Amino acid sequence: MGLAGPLRRRAVAFLRSHRREWVLDSGAGPGVSSRMLLENGFENIVALDPSIRLLRFARSRLGQWFCPVVGVAENLPFRPSCLGAVITCFSLRDVMSLDHSLDEFARVTRRGGALAVVDIGKPDSGFWRSLIGFYVSHLMPVLARVWIRGKTSGNPFRMIIPTWKKLKTNGQLSDLIERSFGPCALKSFFLGGLVVFEADRFSVWKDAFPVRPGGTAG
Ligand SMILES: C[S@@+](CC[C@H](N)C(=O)[O-])C[C@H]1O[C@@H](n2cnc3c(N)ncnc32)[C@H](O)[C@@H]1O
Repeated sequence: MGLAGPLRRRAVAFLRSHRREWVLDSGAGPGVSSRMLLENGFENIVALDPSIRLLRFARSRLGQWFCPVVGVAENLPFRPSCLGAVITCFSLRDVMSLDHSLDEFARVTRRGGALAVVDIGKPDSGFWRSLIGFYVSHLMPVLARVWIRGKTSGNPFRMIIPTWKKLKTNGQLSDLIERSFGPCALKSFFLGGLVVFEADRFSVWKDAFPVRPGGTAG
């Protein structure tokens, strides 16, 4: 629907006060968001992705200010509070553990920093959820196949269906971000089928009582 670009731009604008600091693009993939950050005056981008192939591709186009790191959001190879901000576009829904990823974003972002998440959304209302579910599962793969005809074999857009099914609702995800990271504003578009979460890093209860991997606090 052509909304991905404007929503990325919105997320980049939200982070603009951090453009002189290190900013993490988590799930950077081919570097679309990193490119937008660089074009908007951000100076130091660390781009994390499990795919070395996608990072090589992005690095070949984005140059020395784009610092690729192979890894996953659930286990970030960075020191605590070393980043000014984190952006993650169309990638948070792919992580194996949402809780660990959000806790890691909080750990590596300094207090006063920010997190911007852009992704497909799952409306809280059952009616709109069914409608968007129908669009994601049935209409979008067909539209996408027409759009990419001849450019690649198969239909990679079908991979969105299982990730959409396991997605938390927009309200649930907003609550999770608030609990791990700090106050979060949820902006919904396309009947809640696309979302931007804008969060500020403040102290949260989890900072005082961190949950250990085994599930216990302290
Ligand atoms: C749909 S692509 C989005 C890429 C890019 N952010 C964009 O907006 O074009 C999702 C990306 O998330 C990455 N990814 C998958 N699992 C991940 C994880 N656990 N941690 C970080 N990135 C992950 C994938 O390798 C892929 O590059």
